[in-house]
Amino acid sequence: MLLGEYLEMLPSRKGDFLKEHGFSTADVPGSQGTTMSLAISPEMGQFLYNLTLMRRPARILELGSSYGVSTLYFASALQRIGQGQLIASELDASKCARLKHHLQITEVQHLVAVWEGDVFDLFNKLEGHFDMVFMDTWSNLYLDLFQQLEPFLKPGSVVITDNMYTAPDEVRDFKQYLDGNPIFSSTTLDFESGVEFTVMI
Ligand SMILES: C[S@@+](CC[C@H](N)C(=O)[O-])C[C@H]1O[C@@H](n2cnc3c(N)ncnc32)[C@H](O)[C@@H]1O
Repeated sequence: MLLGEYLEMLPSRKGDFLKEHGFSTADVPGSQGTTMSLAISPEMGQFLYNLTLMRRPARILELGSSYGVSTLYFASALQRIGQGQLIASELDASKCARLKHHLQITEVQHLVAVWEGDVFDLFNKLEGHFDMVFMDTWSNLYLDLFQQLEPFLKPGSVVITDNMYTAPDEVRDFKQYLDGNPIFSSTTLDFESGVEFTVMI
């Protein structure tokens, strides 16, 4: 892959570039036979970290935790402010095992409850409201997920959604839903792979 070309590209063009080169947004094997990392970048991690310091959330929900790179940025911010809890969710059992291991070795497991399974099943078991939500599953799920999530949001809740540029066709219905819904204020931040920043009014 023309990595240099990719890195220099405007965030909004990266999705087309990936598609042209035959990459999908799902996990794909890398050239060494290992799974290509779909984890957030350090810059995105720092963004989530700072947002957590700013919002000082009592409860965070993460949809699509994989091995826990994003989870660790949230947990580390909660540790720093000395308050708050995170629910991390992941469908893949082997990823969940790695996620739990990472939480253990970084000694933040007391801040994070791990939900192993399909997030759509998790919604039946959730109670209360979340101050912050990070959506980072496969992007074709975003609209359905968001609609299930709505009862768990309250005015001032912040929802961050990754990969808005990676698969523009798959997120179009989600973006249209947000833009047409007066109880949300939402904008796509033009950095990384396109980060949707949504606030419930
Ligand atoms: C882009 S990766 C998440 C990366 C992670 N946030 C990080 O920064 O390390 C997307 C993850 O969502 C998970 N996923 C996809 N559909 C899901 C579902 N219905 N329920 C739970 N997890 C799901 C995938 O297994 C995958 O690990």
